[in-house]
Amino acid sequence: MEISANLYGDKEMDSETKGKSPSQSSVESRYLVMPSQANPYGTAFGGAIMAWIDMVASMSAQRHCGKETVTAGMDSLSFIEPIRIGDQVVLKACVNYAGTTSMEVGVQVSREDPTTGSSSIVTSAHLTFVALNKNKKPAAVPPVIPVTEEEKHRYASAKTRVMVRKELRRKNV
Ligand SMILES: CC(C)(COP(=O)(O)OP(=O)(O)OC[C@H]1O[C@@H](n2cnc3c(N)ncnc32)[C@H](O)[C@@H]1OP(=O)(O)O)[C@@H](O)C(=O)NCCC(=O)NCCS
Repeated sequence: MEISANLYGDKEMDSETKGKSPSQSSVESRYLVMPSQANPYGTAFGGAIMAWIDMVASMSAQRHCGKETVTAGMDSLSFIEPIRIGDQVVLKACVNYAGTTSMEVGVQVSREDPTTGSSSIVTSAHLTFVALNKNKKPAAVPPVIPVTEEEKHRYASAKTRVMVRKELRRKNV
């Protein structure tokens, strides 16, 4: 189905319809875990990490579409190992797939202990962002053009997840 940008009242879309690669939307952020972000046992609050994930994913979605975006949803999240006070948390995000007005952003989160140099992946997340036009209505986004084999694999997996999410919402599950 060919989507007209005008359907969304979004004239600026014309110059952006060619699409962007995931590397053009990639964002990397690093945070130091402070006591204010931890529980009484010295490990990070999951909610603090989730806020950082939302922040970095949002910046990636904005880099892709060049518009205001809102978080529509985040898939389930599992923490594989604890993150401690003093650890550095590294978040890497990029847009895996774009639909008509929505984008799936993947975020990988790892922790680094600066005293030992050890690092490990602690979680990963998939979030959906929707671009908005000036009237705060969903606006068309450029397609994602995967370049590397890894990007092509992530694109195909994301496309499947988008279909599954739509079906679950349709069934109200
Ligand atoms: C996200 C939002 C803009 C969608 O608006 P809507 O009128 O339902 O829009 P539509 O039904 O036309 O869906 C627009 C796109 O979003 C996708 N979408 C909508 N709800 C979704 C959800 N819960 N999860 C994943 N994708 C979703 C649709 O599949 C569609 O994608 P496509 O255009 O790529 O095919 C609206 O629900 C909203 O404003 N939510 C609040 C967002 C917010 O404030 N977030 C911060 C959290 S406090």
